[in-house]
Amino acid sequence: MIVAIDGPAASGKGTLGRRIAAHYGLPHLDSGLLYRAVALALIARGGDVHDASAATAVAQALDPQMLGDPALRGPAAGAGASVVSAVPEVRAALLDFQRRFAAEPPGAVIDGRDIGTVICPHAEAKIFVTAAPEERARRRALEFAGRGEPADEASILADILARDARDMGRAVAPLAQAADAVLLDTTTLNADQAFAAALAIVEARI
Ligand code: C5P
Repeated sequence: MIVAIDGPAASGKGTLGRRIAAHYGLPHLDSGLLYRAVALALIARGGDVHDASAATAVAQALDPQMLGDPALRGPAAGAGASVVSAVPEVRAALLDFQRRFAAEPPGAVIDGRDIGTVICPHAEAKIFVTAAPEERARRRALEFAGRGEPADEASILADILARDARDMGRAVAPLAQAADAVLLDTTTLNADQAFAAALAIVEARI
C-alpha cells in the first residue's frame, strides 16, 4: 500500500505522514529532506544554490545517510531546497531513490509536492493537505520556538508565500493536487482532528 501526501510548506503533511505510517506499520519518507539535503550539502561546500550544475552533481552523489541531519529542518535548508528543486536534473537524480523506497514491500507513506502526480501516480491513497498561509506560519513559528530557534512569524509567513509561489510556479513537477487526490484543509483542525480526517481518507481508499 502506498499513501501519497502532498501539500505546501508547513501544511502539516510531515506530521500526518509520520502518524499514518506508524498507524499502518509502514516506512515513511519525507521527500522534502532529499531536496533540503542537496541544498545543505551545496552550502556546506561553499556552493551557490542557484548553480544548477553544482546542485545536480550534489544530487547525483547524495548519501541517504544525510537525511537524519537535524540541520535539514532549519529555514536555510528549506529556502535552498525550494531553489534546487526547480532544477529538472536535480529532480531526475532523486527520482529513483523515491521510487525504490515506494516499491519495497509492504509499501510506504511518502510526503512531498509531487508524490501523487509524478513519483507515485498509482498510489492507493492520495491526500492533498493544505491550510491558510497565516495558520501555516503560526504553526511553523511554534515549531521553531519549541526547538529554541528564532521564530519571527512575519518573516516565516513571507518565506512560506515565496516558497509556495516557487513550488507552484516551476515548470517541472510543480506543486499540484492530483486529479484523484482528496483535499484536506487543516486550517481549523488540531493535530488529532487532522490525523483522524487523513485516516478516514486512507481507509476509504484501501
Ligand atoms: O516539504 P519541505 O518543506 O521540507 O520541502 C522543502 C522544499 O523541497 C519545498 O519547498 C520544495 O521546493 C521541495 N520539494 C519538492 N518536491 C518534493 C518535496 C519537496 O520540490 N516532493
